Amino acid sequence: MKVSQAIATRKTVRAFRSEAVDAETVRRILARAARAPSGGNLQPWRVYVLLDAARDELVRRVKEQMTQTPMGQTPEYHIYPPQLTEPYKTRRSRIGEAMYATMGIPREDRASRLKHFVRNWEFFGAPVGMIFTIDRQMQQGQWADLGMFMENIMLLAREEGLHTCPQEAWALWPKTIREYLAVPENEMIFCGMGLGYADDAAAVNTLESERAPLEEFALIRDHS
Ligand SMILES: Cc1cc2nc3c(=O)[nH]c(=O)nc-3n(C[C@H](O)[C@H](O)[C@H](O)COP(=O)(O)O)c2cc1C
Repeated sequence: MKVSQAIATRKTVRAFRSEAVDAETVRRILARAARAPSGGNLQPWRVYVLLDAARDELVRRVKEQMTQTPMGQTPEYHIYPPQLTEPYKTRRSRIGEAMYATMGIPREDRASRLKHFVRNWEFFGAPVGMIFTIDRQMQQGQWADLGMFMENIMLLAREEGLHTCPQEAWALWPKTIREYLAVPENEMIFCGMGLGYADDAAAVNTLESERAPLEEFALIRDHS
């Protein structure tokens, strides 16, 4: 598979088949993904990989906690800027509307929207769950490095016939995750990721996200 094919076919999958992913495949993806560049070669990424019963147990613990705090705990960072401005605000609402439209869930149907949202905390059915953390001393540059590591995982997954779902929704359960995985205090819970085989029959997986045209984000200068 060419890199361009991996990029073109990567998309956020929000419904996975239950079919297991071989642990060796997961290890291979992670080892290769760690070839990501990082400033000063700090390699500031850290990932907790949950297979089989370990994944189920996190899902179970979160479900249990949801009876007390249905929408989770306080995240350790702002998932979005508190005062998100345009054009980002509109982009965010457009992708949300487009996603719910694939499932025929109207804006007024809050209950069905919520029901879909909380599937985040089941990794949308993915058999492999990952939690990414970063040392609190790290700055913006190292967060970018972590993002490159994550993107490598998502692209390498394509090469293995797998799909992914990066999930900041997991940042809403820092206490539960920390306790269960014994994450040291110096590590901040950044996000999760589901990995598995896409359920091609699921309506939500037909979603095609938009992108702004090149002219909007690339400021190309020449000497003329
Ligand atoms: C760091 C990160 C966190 C994300 N968190 C979530 C999430 O919690 N739940 C979700 O359904 N999608 C999540 N997404 C997926 C984005 O909504 C998605 O990448 C975007 O809409 C573009 O769509 P695409 O990935 O299909 O190209 C996340 C993406 C990234 C990069």
